Amino acid sequence: MAKLTKLDDIVSLCKRRGFIFQSSEIYGGLASCYDYGPLGVELKNNVKKAWWKNVVQMRDDVVGLDCSILMHPLVWKASGHADHFADLVAECKKCNTRTRVDHLKDKATDSAQEHTEHVAIAPGATQDLSKKVCPSCGATGNFTQPMPFKLMFETQMGANIEDSMTLYLRPETAQGIFANFRNVLDTTRVKIPFGIAQIGKSFRNEVTTKAFIFRTREFEQAELEFFCEPGTDDKWFEHWKEQRFNWYLNLGLKKENLRFREHEKDELAHYAKGCVDVEYKFPFGSGDWQELEGIANRTDYDLRQHQRGMRTLNAWYETKGDLSKIKLKEEAEDYLKGPLSYFDDEKKARYIPYVIEPSAGMDRSTLAFLVDAYDEEEVRGETRNILRFSSAIAPTKAGIFPLVNKDGMPETARNIFNDLKGRFNCAYDEKGAIGRRYRRQDEAGTPFCITVDGQTAQDQTVTVRERDSMNQIRVAIDQLKAYLRDKLDM
Ligand code: GLY
Repeated sequence: MAKLTKLDDIVSLCKRRGFIFQSSEIYGGLASCYDYGPLGVELKNNVKKAWWKNVVQMRDDVVGLDCSILMHPLVWKASGHADHFADLVAECKKCNTRTRVDHLKDKATDSAQEHTEHVAIAPGATQDLSKKVCPSCGATGNFTQPMPFKLMFETQMGANIEDSMTLYLRPETAQGIFANFRNVLDTTRVKIPFGIAQIGKSFRNEVTTKAFIFRTREFEQAELEFFCEPGTDDKWFEHWKEQRFNWYLNLGLKKENLRFREHEKDELAHYAKGCVDVEYKFPFGSGDWQELEGIANRTDYDLRQHQRGMRTLNAWYETKGDLSKIKLKEEAEDYLKGPLSYFDDEKKARYIPYVIEPSAGMDRSTLAFLVDAYDEEEVRGETRNILRFSSAIAPTKAGIFPLVNKDGMPETARNIFNDLKGRFNCAYDEKGAIGRRYRRQDEAGTPFCITVDGQTAQDQTVTVRERDSMNQIRVAIDQLKAYLRDKLDM
């Protein structure tokens, strides 16, 4: 049974074992920013690889893309982010702290909309904050009128004042995919239904960050935009719900810790017709359900909006690139013939495809895999700490040790390490008692340990110890690679 009952336990485990560190820690840290340590980077890379393998490599209807983080500003005008991607905040008149209005708690009831990521802003909506309490100083009902706070980070491109331009760090990777829809259609043989996938960093200047890596301002997304014929979207939505839920299960998350949660109408993003989250139950307190992934039906919204964006380009030049001065052109009457439409050869029909979007947070899921794998057990009066990672995501696949540092054992162990390291991420360790070396690998979640001992020189075999059962068998050195490939399924 995992004994991680407090968030602090997880933060400290992540730090102690080199999974996740606070960013800029030597300068006192930078709030809401985190760095992946030696084991963490391997784990997260493996989670990303497992996603790519499942969503792209194993399918014949999905291709990949890797877009730049900086994009043309009109992308964000067309996508709606420039105008709608904001949180409604109110400022406490006593301590000047700004808080998201939907996160303010009522003095009497202690209730707030805990689940929402970002709430669609209704312009001009008045809100009664008279009973709300400032989470920072405790003052009640002492707030300014709610105002929108934009979530996109701005930056400047170009050295000269005349031609420098305000750009945005992308708040989602999805728009790079929509902007390349025509490129992919023109350069590959994909036919609808098909998807385009991308993994990459996104940025949101969140008003409220959440503890640890649950909501950070810089984060990594794995997104699939799956394009389908209008009318088939509900079917594909169900397909991707099932696929994505099973991905987490197959990589080892316990079923009782996973659930779907439908979005309420008032928490839907501005582009979505429907959305369901895959949530994981973190073991703090009585269980803390957190979103790992959202699966949304984005309809034909984005492609239609980008056709409007393309029509707006000339007007944008006239405003010298000032987005605040520009109004998106109306949709063309013959928008169905626009460049982002699709002609279905078989049906002889033209339409703007609908889009189903599974959008997974790689940081949150990495943490969920870590927490779910954590275990403690009593072995001969001692506590053994283990990370029971599935072999696909384990940071290190095999630890390789000489039993003692003499009689040619280190040389043989090194040779084995050199032979295996090109195929699997391995660790060579000759320091300390063998029991301690096993424990170190258990704590890192390494599925196998290989030990060169006295018998090796006689019969060219080594012991292979399996992490979970701690069973040991002898395997011939020349069979090791095949043995591990079979056991690790790689
Ligand atoms: N693309 C969906 C999201 O970023 O939440």
